[in-house]
Amino acid sequence: MAKIIVVGSSSIDLVVTSSKRPGAGETVLGESFKTVPGGKGANQAVAAARLGADVTMVGRVGDDHFGEAILNNFKFNQVSTDYVEPVTHMESGTAHIVLAEGDNSIVVIKAANNEVTPGYIEQSMDAYSGADMVMIQQEIPEDTVTHVSRVCQKLGIPLLLNPAPARSLEDEVIENAAYITPNEHEAEILFSHLSVSEALRKYPNKLFVTEGSKGVRYYDGESEVLVPSYQVEAVDTTGAGDTFNAAFAVALAEGKPIVESVRFANRAASLSVTKFGAQGGMPTRQEVEAQM
Ligand code: RIB
Repeated sequence: MAKIIVVGSSSIDLVVTSSKRPGAGETVLGESFKTVPGGKGANQAVAAARLGADVTMVGRVGDDHFGEAILNNFKFNQVSTDYVEPVTHMESGTAHIVLAEGDNSIVVIKAANNEVTPGYIEQSMDAYSGADMVMIQQEIPEDTVTHVSRVCQKLGIPLLLNPAPARSLEDEVIENAAYITPNEHEAEILFSHLSVSEALRKYPNKLFVTEGSKGVRYYDGESEVLVPSYQVEAVDTTGAGDTFNAAFAVALAEGKPIVESVRFANRAASLSVTKFGAQGGMPTRQEVEAQM
């Protein structure tokens, strides 16, 4: 069983569905409102656990009822919460999501996720023992991402960096990561001075650009490869990227070849969009294998 550590955000998603996305200064009547578990880190942890990995989350929650719900959800999905410490007098992270016109718009309030600091990482060092892979995203402080990249480099653990939400990164972090998985928009911000093809060639078998329903592009050392997505009827695309990242990490940590790992991850991501909520459609290992 692959052992995966996820360092990142845990949130509650407050989701409204509406047939129309309001413009600036506009009010529209929506159809529904739901609260569901989310946060890129938590989503990746839950997805990896459903795919059969032994997962430990390194994160923070608030001392509110959302924090309790987040912890219960981790336990329900068999994600270890030994390194998810509540922060006193602080709210849990929230994501405010509008699902409209076939896509989502999201505003994230980091709140307790801001307390996943380099100091907290130092306190949680025991979590990394025996890990096959560490995953990280960018809904936690920037200096924590740098710090974790150094920890992984020092301990010789491969780091999968999902650079979402988008921001530029220091060269050191890019060098320390084993795998980097931006979408097209994030890739443009990360490698603003390069075309996508130039960036892929610079980082063979390391940079994987996710292109939504088109597929995933990377350079295998000889040529550029596009591994196509599986076409499905999408209900909610929230969390598809997180499912891709988790499934990719699980497959790589199990020693699967890269192209096979991308195919496995594409399959998992395609299943994840067929149900409502970031974690609602995240498949089990059996569900993915049945489709392969
Ligand atoms: O990647 C999807 C996630 O991003 C949502 O669950 C939401 O929490 C936002 O952070």
